[in-house]
Amino acid sequence: MEKKRIAVLVSGGGTNLQALIDATHAGVLQSGELTLVVSSSSKAYALTRAAEAGIPSAVLTGKSFEPELEALLKDYQIDLIILAGFMRILSPAFTARHDRRILNIHPSLIPAFCGKGYYGLRVHEAALARGVKVTGATVHFVNEIPDGGEILLQKAVEVLPDDTPETLQRRVMEQAEWKLLPLAAELVSRGEIK
Ligand code: GAR
Repeated sequence: MEKKRIAVLVSGGGTNLQALIDATHAGVLQSGELTLVVSSSSKAYALTRAAEAGIPSAVLTGKSFEPELEALLKDYQIDLIILAGFMRILSPAFTARHDRRILNIHPSLIPAFCGKGYYGLRVHEAALARGVKVTGATVHFVNEIPDGGEILLQKAVEVLPDDTPETLQRRVMEQAEWKLLPLAAELVSRGEIK
Protein backbone atom coordinates (compact mmCIF):
# COMPACT_ATOMS: atom_id res chain seq x y z
CA MET A 1 0.00 0.00 0.00
CA GLU A 2 1.23 3.49 -0.81
CA LYS A 3 2.25 5.57 2.18
CA LYS A 4 0.00 8.43 3.22
CA ARG A 5 1.68 11.79 2.79
CA ILE A 6 1.70 13.71 6.07
CA ALA A 7 2.11 17.44 6.74
CA VAL A 8 3.01 18.40 10.32
CA LEU A 9 1.99 21.88 11.49
CA VAL A 10 4.13 23.35 14.29
CA SER A 11 4.74 26.59 16.17
CA GLY A 12 7.43 25.93 18.77
CA GLY A 13 9.91 23.43 20.12
CA GLY A 14 8.67 20.55 18.04
CA THR A 15 9.21 17.66 20.47
CA ASN A 16 6.07 16.03 19.07
CA LEU A 17 7.43 16.45 15.55
CA GLN A 18 10.62 14.80 16.84
CA ALA A 19 8.57 11.91 18.23
CA LEU A 20 7.06 11.42 14.76
CA ILE A 21 10.53 11.50 13.15
CA ASP A 22 11.88 9.02 15.70
CA ALA A 23 8.84 6.78 15.20
CA THR A 24 9.58 6.69 11.47
CA HIS A 25 13.12 5.50 12.16
CA ALA A 26 11.89 2.97 14.72
CA GLY A 27 9.29 1.56 12.30
CA VAL A 28 6.37 2.56 14.51
CA LEU A 29 5.18 4.99 11.86
CA GLN A 30 5.43 3.04 8.62
CA SER A 31 2.17 3.64 6.76
CA GLY A 32 2.69 7.39 6.63
CA GLU A 33 5.55 9.53 5.37
CA LEU A 34 6.52 12.89 6.92
CA THR A 35 6.42 14.93 3.71
CA LEU A 36 6.23 18.55 4.82
CA VAL A 37 6.56 20.68 7.97
CA VAL A 38 4.72 24.02 8.14
CA SER A 39 5.50 26.46 10.94
CA SER A 40 3.53 29.51 12.05
CA SER A 41 6.76 31.01 13.38
CA SER A 42 10.16 31.50 11.74
CA LYS A 43 11.80 31.05 15.15
CA ALA A 44 10.34 27.61 15.90
CA TYR A 45 13.04 25.08 16.82
CA ALA A 46 10.81 22.54 15.07
CA LEU A 47 12.20 23.95 11.79
CA THR A 48 15.71 22.85 12.79
CA ARG A 49 14.39 19.40 13.60
CA ALA A 50 12.73 19.22 10.16
CA ALA A 51 15.94 20.32 8.42
CA GLU A 52 18.02 17.76 10.33
CA ALA A 53 15.59 15.04 9.32
CA GLY A 54 15.66 16.17 5.68
CA ILE A 55 11.96 17.13 5.62
CA PRO A 56 11.04 20.19 3.49
CA SER A 57 9.56 23.02 5.52
CA ALA A 58 7.74 26.30 5.05
CA VAL A 59 6.99 29.25 7.31
CA LEU A 60 3.54 30.80 7.00
CA THR A 61 2.58 33.84 9.04
CA GLY A 62 0.00 36.54 8.59
CA LYS A 63 -3.49 36.76 7.22
CA SER A 64 -3.16 34.66 4.06
CA PHE A 65 -2.04 31.67 6.12
CA GLU A 66 -4.85 29.35 5.05
CA PRO A 67 -4.82 29.96 1.25
CA GLU A 68 -1.03 29.56 1.29
CA LEU A 69 -1.34 26.39 3.34
CA GLU A 70 -3.95 25.00 0.91
CA ALA A 71 -1.56 25.62 -1.99
CA LEU A 72 1.26 23.79 -0.19
CA LEU A 73 -0.99 20.86 0.71
CA LYS A 74 -1.90 20.56 -2.97
CA ASP A 75 1.70 20.91 -4.23
CA TYR A 76 2.91 18.21 -1.83
CA GLN A 77 -0.18 16.02 -2.36
CA ILE A 78 -0.82 15.80 1.37
CA ASP A 79 -3.27 13.17 2.64
CA LEU A 80 -3.13 13.82 6.39
CA ILE A 81 -2.42 16.95 8.48
CA ILE A 82 -1.04 16.65 12.01
CA LEU A 83 -1.16 19.57 14.42
CA ALA A 84 1.85 19.07 16.71
CA GLY A 85 2.02 22.02 19.07
CA PHE A 86 0.38 24.25 16.47
CA MET A 87 -0.83 27.43 18.17
CA ARG A 88 -3.25 28.84 15.59
CA ILE A 89 -6.93 27.98 15.32
CA LEU A 90 -7.97 26.83 11.85
CA SER A 91 -11.15 28.27 10.34
CA PRO A 92 -14.38 26.23 10.18
CA ALA A 93 -14.15 26.35 6.36
CA PHE A 94 -10.66 24.82 6.48
CA THR A 95 -11.57 22.08 8.95
CA ALA A 96 -14.72 21.24 6.93
CA ARG A 97 -12.67 20.89 3.73
CA HIS A 98 -10.34 18.45 5.54
CA ASP A 99 -12.90 16.52 7.57
CA ARG A 100 -11.28 13.52 9.35
CA ARG A 101 -7.97 14.45 7.74
CA ILE A 102 -6.57 16.60 10.59
CA LEU A 103 -5.22 15.20 13.88
CA ASN A 104 -4.35 17.24 16.97
CA ILE A 105 -2.50 16.38 20.15
CA HIS A 106 -3.77 18.15 23.27
CA PRO A 107 -1.98 17.96 26.64
CA SER A 108 -4.94 17.04 28.86
CA LEU A 109 -7.69 14.45 29.12
CA ILE A 110 -10.37 16.17 27.00
CA PRO A 111 -12.97 17.45 28.00
CA ALA A 112 -10.88 18.75 30.93
CA PHE A 113 -8.75 21.86 30.38
CA CYS A 114 -9.39 22.31 26.67
CA GLY A 115 -10.89 24.76 24.21
CA LYS A 116 -10.11 28.41 23.69
CA GLY A 117 -7.23 29.72 25.83
CA TYR A 118 -6.00 26.28 26.86
CA TYR A 119 -2.71 25.62 25.12
CA GLY A 120 0.85 24.70 26.02
CA LEU A 121 1.90 25.38 29.61
CA ARG A 122 -1.45 27.05 30.41
CA VAL A 123 -3.15 23.65 30.32
CA HIS A 124 -0.83 22.32 33.03
CA GLU A 125 -1.14 25.50 35.11
CA ALA A 126 -4.93 25.06 35.06
CA ALA A 127 -4.70 21.37 35.98
CA LEU A 128 -2.45 22.16 38.97
CA ALA A 129 -4.66 25.09 40.05
CA ARG A 130 -7.71 22.78 40.04
CA GLY A 131 -5.82 20.15 42.02
CA VAL A 132 -6.46 17.16 39.78
CA LYS A 133 -4.52 14.02 40.66
CA VAL A 134 -4.56 12.60 37.14
CA THR A 135 -4.13 14.37 33.81
CA GLY A 136 -2.87 13.14 30.44
CA ALA A 137 -3.04 13.70 26.71
CA THR A 138 -5.58 13.27 23.93
CA VAL A 139 -5.33 12.79 20.17
CA HIS A 140 -8.47 13.80 18.33
CA PHE A 141 -9.75 14.66 14.88
CA VAL A 142 -10.04 18.40 14.34
CA ASN A 143 -13.41 19.96 13.55
CA GLU A 144 -14.79 23.51 13.82
CA ILE A 145 -14.88 23.41 17.65
CA PRO A 146 -11.47 23.98 19.29
CA ASP A 147 -10.48 20.61 20.85
CA GLY A 148 -14.05 19.39 20.09
CA GLY A 149 -13.51 16.72 17.41
CA GLU A 150 -13.81 12.98 17.85
CA ILE A 151 -11.42 11.54 20.43
CA LEU A 152 -9.13 8.83 19.01
CA LEU A 153 -6.62 8.02 21.78
CA GLN A 154 -6.09 9.09 25.38
CA LYS A 155 -3.52 8.26 28.03
CA ALA A 156 -3.62 9.16 31.72
CA VAL A 157 -0.60 10.53 33.60
CA GLU A 158 -0.22 10.92 37.35
CA VAL A 159 0.14 14.39 38.89
CA LEU A 160 2.75 14.42 41.68
CA PRO A 161 2.54 16.60 44.82
CA ASP A 162 5.59 18.72 43.98
CA ASP A 163 4.78 19.25 40.31
CA THR A 164 5.30 22.62 38.66
CA PRO A 165 3.64 23.33 35.29
CA GLU A 166 7.01 22.56 33.69
CA THR A 167 7.60 19.19 35.40
CA LEU A 168 4.02 18.15 34.70
CA GLN A 169 4.28 19.20 31.04
CA ARG A 170 7.44 17.14 30.66
CA ARG A 171 5.88 14.03 32.24
CA VAL A 172 2.75 14.32 30.08
CA MET A 173 4.94 14.60 26.98
CA GLU A 174 7.20 11.67 27.89
CA GLN A 175 4.53 9.30 29.15
CA ALA A 176 1.66 10.20 26.83
CA GLU A 177 2.12 12.66 23.94
CA TRP A 178 5.26 11.23 22.33
CA LYS A 179 3.69 7.76 22.30
CA LEU A 180 0.10 8.61 21.40
CA LEU A 181 0.78 10.90 18.45
CA PRO A 182 2.96 8.50 16.40
CA LEU A 183 0.54 5.66 17.18
CA ALA A 184 -2.47 7.70 16.03
CA ALA A 185 -0.57 8.79 12.90
CA GLU A 186 0.11 5.15 12.06
CA LEU A 187 -3.45 3.95 12.78
CA VAL A 188 -5.01 6.68 10.64
CA SER A 189 -2.43 6.25 7.83
CA ARG A 190 -3.04 2.49 7.84
CA GLY A 191 -6.80 3.08 7.63
CA GLU A 192 -7.50 1.42 10.97
CA ILE A 193 -9.09 4.65 12.17
CA LYS A 194 -11.30 6.28 9.54
C1 GAR B 1 2.58 20.06 23.46
O1 GAR B 1 2.45 19.80 24.84
C2 GAR B 1 1.22 19.97 22.78
O2 GAR B 1 0.41 18.96 23.29
C3 GAR B 1 0.67 21.33 23.09
O3 GAR B 1 1.76 22.21 22.97
C4 GAR B 1 2.98 21.51 23.23
C5 GAR B 1 3.90 21.69 22.05
O4 GAR B 1 5.16 21.12 22.29
N1 GAR B 1 -0.42 21.66 22.23
C6 GAR B 1 -1.47 22.39 22.60
O5 GAR B 1 -1.57 22.90 23.70
C7 GAR B 1 -2.54 22.56 21.53
N2 GAR B 1 -3.74 23.09 22.10
P1 GAR B 1 6.14 20.70 21.10
O6 GAR B 1 6.28 21.91 20.16
O7 GAR B 1 7.42 20.40 21.79
O8 GAR B 1 5.56 19.51 20.38
